[in-house]
Amino acid sequence: MRIIVTGGAGFIGSEFVRSMLLAPGAANDIRITVLDKLTYAGVRENLDPVAGHPRHAFVHGDICDGDFLDQVVPGHDAVVHFAAETHVDRSITGSAPFVTTNVLGTQLLLDAARRHGVGRFLHVSTDEVYGSIPVGSWSEESPLAPNSPYAATKAGSELLALACHRTHGMDVVVTRCSNNYGPYQFPEKVIPLFITRLLDGGKVPLYGDGQHVRDWLHVSDHCRGVELALRHGRAGEVYHIGGGTELTNEQLTGHLLAATGRGWEQVERVPDRKGHDARYSLDCTKAATELGYAPLVGFERGLADTVAWYAGNRSWWEPLQRRAALRASA
Ligand SMILES: NC(=O)c1ccc[n+]([C@@H]2O[C@H](COP(=O)([O-])OP(=O)(O)OC[C@H]3O[C@@H](n4cnc5c(N)ncnc54)[C@H](O)[C@@H]3O)[C@@H](O)[C@H]2O)c1
Repeated sequence: MRIIVTGGAGFIGSEFVRSMLLAPGAANDIRITVLDKLTYAGVRENLDPVAGHPRHAFVHGDICDGDFLDQVVPGHDAVVHFAAETHVDRSITGSAPFVTTNVLGTQLLLDAARRHGVGRFLHVSTDEVYGSIPVGSWSEESPLAPNSPYAATKAGSELLALACHRTHGMDVVVTRCSNNYGPYQFPEKVIPLFITRLLDGGKVPLYGDGQHVRDWLHVSDHCRGVELALRHGRAGEVYHIGGGTELTNEQLTGHLLAATGRGWEQVERVPDRKGHDARYSLDCTKAATELGYAPLVGFERGLADTVAWYAGNRSWWEPLQRRAALRASA
């Protein structure tokens, strides 16, 4: 199978590429072309472990450029679409790049995939498209009610992907996952932001009352779920990929303080994020029964490994902290 992986230099996309090519027992019938614009969140070094791999190629470009897509897409059997603007806070201060990449870029990619007869199009989405749920869990049939501009553009993009299935019969599968954590995550997202600041003895910001609940999913479990959906998902269907560890942000902060040997004096309470969703929760029964999906990495082990990775890889994240700060002040 010849696969285009968009956003393959980002956090989750690069884990997908590394695991598909390097994991013990990985199938050797996979060839991967990474297509990435290398925005501030794209890190070429994330793919160093597969540099020179005979079944990997990297192409620098933008999913919003239809002519470029016409050069790259032909000859591939599948697209796994991770590329997106992904940081909720950035979407609140400026949503135009989110609409451009997440909505228009996805449509142009779908058009190119259809034009060039690509088989399967696996669209990676998020639990944030549902909005917020006080109790219980969403099924794949729950109505979409996104609140942040980020979530609204992710909802728009997956609706366009599903429309391509219903209108044109394209072989589209959508996955919606919960909050990922693990190595190589850009240090503006909460877990790597907190770890890197705590390792340096700095302060960490906790939004509002700290009672917002998120379900945490190790990135390797997510990528296994994406591969299962890619290989075995039914066309036109949506699958949830969750981690099964629901924590308030305050509980998460407690775990991160313990893992880095710091105390609560490092935590600064800051005003809540605008429109902050109170709780996300996915029912993953469908992926479990149809795809055989179950998360394998327990949260405590996954978090300890993640903290150890950041502690051992300062040369990876210190330049990115400067890049994030530059971008924030631009
Ligand atoms: N991180 C999470 O917890 C999470 C949760 C649910 C869903 N998702 C989804 O998973 C996907 C990957 O998320 P991530 O955390 O790895 O993101 P990321 O921000 O780490 O990486 C995004 C990648 O996309 C690339 N990109 C951005 N715009 C592009 C464009 N116009 N053309 C080509 N490449 C472009 C960037 O250079 C970067 O390499 C996204 O679609 C996101 O919505 C993420």
